[in-house]
Amino acid sequence: MTYYPPEPFRIKMVEPIQLIDRAARQAAITRAGLNLFGLQAEEVFIDLMTDSGTGAMSQDQWGAIMRGDESYAGARSFERLSTAVKQIFGFNNFVPTHQGRAAENILSALLVKEGKYVPSNTHFDTTDANIRARGGRPTNLVIEEAKDPTNRHPFKGNIDIQKLRDFIVKTGPKNIPLGMITITNNAGGGQPVSMENIRAVSQTYHDFGIPFFIDACRYAENAYFIKLRESGYRNKTTLEIAQEVFSLADGATMSAKKDAIVNIGGFLVMNDEVLYQRACNELILREGFPTYGGLAGRDLDAIAVGLWEGLDESYLAYRLNQISYLAGRLLENGIPIIEPPGGHAVYLDALRFLPHIPQAEFPGQALAVELFLEGGVRTCEIGSVMFAHPDPKSGEMIYPDLELVRLAIPRRVYTQSHLDYVAETIIKVFNRRESIRGQKFTYAPELLKHFTARFQSL
Ligand SMILES: Cc1ncc(COP(=O)(O)O)c(C=O)c1O
Repeated sequence: MTYYPPEPFRIKMVEPIQLIDRAARQAAITRAGLNLFGLQAEEVFIDLMTDSGTGAMSQDQWGAIMRGDESYAGARSFERLSTAVKQIFGFNNFVPTHQGRAAENILSALLVKEGKYVPSNTHFDTTDANIRARGGRPTNLVIEEAKDPTNRHPFKGNIDIQKLRDFIVKTGPKNIPLGMITITNNAGGGQPVSMENIRAVSQTYHDFGIPFFIDACRYAENAYFIKLRESGYRNKTTLEIAQEVFSLADGATMSAKKDAIVNIGGFLVMNDEVLYQRACNELILREGFPTYGGLAGRDLDAIAVGLWEGLDESYLAYRLNQISYLAGRLLENGIPIIEPPGGHAVYLDALRFLPHIPQAEFPGQALAVELFLEGGVRTCEIGSVMFAHPDPKSGEMIYPDLELVRLAIPRRVYTQSHLDYVAETIIKVFNRRESIRGQKFTYAPELLKHFTARFQSL
């Protein structure tokens, strides 16, 4: 029996949503070129496209917004955020950015050069694209268990340490300007990384003198998984676990739109002073002065409060249980998902859901369109549309290991009945899956295709 936890909050403000009829949904998705990013929000009933920037802020965050100090330099808001970042992340230096990818852009501008490699468990799309945009080669070295959607390994976000070591030796440390890890591993199913693995990854990078940066978007959910699943951590707080994680790294990129539960914002943190000076120069060029970095003072204050709320253990227990409730409802009905469910989303396994559609015909994309047509549910393909790319040497297409449709659950936004409705919609599509056809591009840009590509049904 699946369990839905009572929300550790009550609702003080509501935002109306409506389900437009099937003909209107069909017209909307046709107009959008079958790309869910092209839909108007008012055409969507339940929006599970992303958990990024879509959370509901708390009364304390809204209160903090009113305290925002909009001074250009040295704002109090910056000081308040610096204090929270220092306490949780512990790095010596910090710059705010307008969101996570801006932090990735600055880091890539500073460190990545043509032909250099950046290993990780699985780079997310923006990290992957920022590295490629500088001529670099993002390299994914997640454990083999992560490639099997039914394998219930507790830390499927782990890096394969032997593979990492072999990769560094083969590539040469001088060709690896930095090494990364993403917690939790969004592109690999939102799967957590264990403390033991983060420690071994840190040791491996450092053995070869490679700086280690964490993509920390969902560090709090990852910390709670460590508390629940890794021996020795049950009696530690999520704060203590997060502090231990960051003590192993040289820096981190952060999209505050996830575990800091804000609608916009991010930051880049690091220990290295010289790198920090260079980051400030890049920041001034691209984002803004180092004490606001592309954000308003009020945004900095909302992040400062949200960082603490995101670590709250009653909230995290509710959040992880909400995700596993939806996963449980789907599994009860034989729907193939990535198991065990991750921290922020349930991922449908499109290769098993639609086994008759080959990867070249985008099964995840086809499934995502059907979920919208069936019930106005917007999701996100994380598969070949997002990640397939030609081999730089042979030109042959390289497809990702997994074809997923992510049902990302915004933080503190949807209730049990919303998730039941989502489950019913998926079950209806599953029952008519054989009639679903693949798709092809009618337009696709070179990088980050999924945002603006257009498609046609085959
Ligand atoms: C793992 C991961 N890294 C980086 C990013 C980029 O963050 P942002 O959307 O704030 O630019 C995301 C956003 O979804 C993400 O999930």
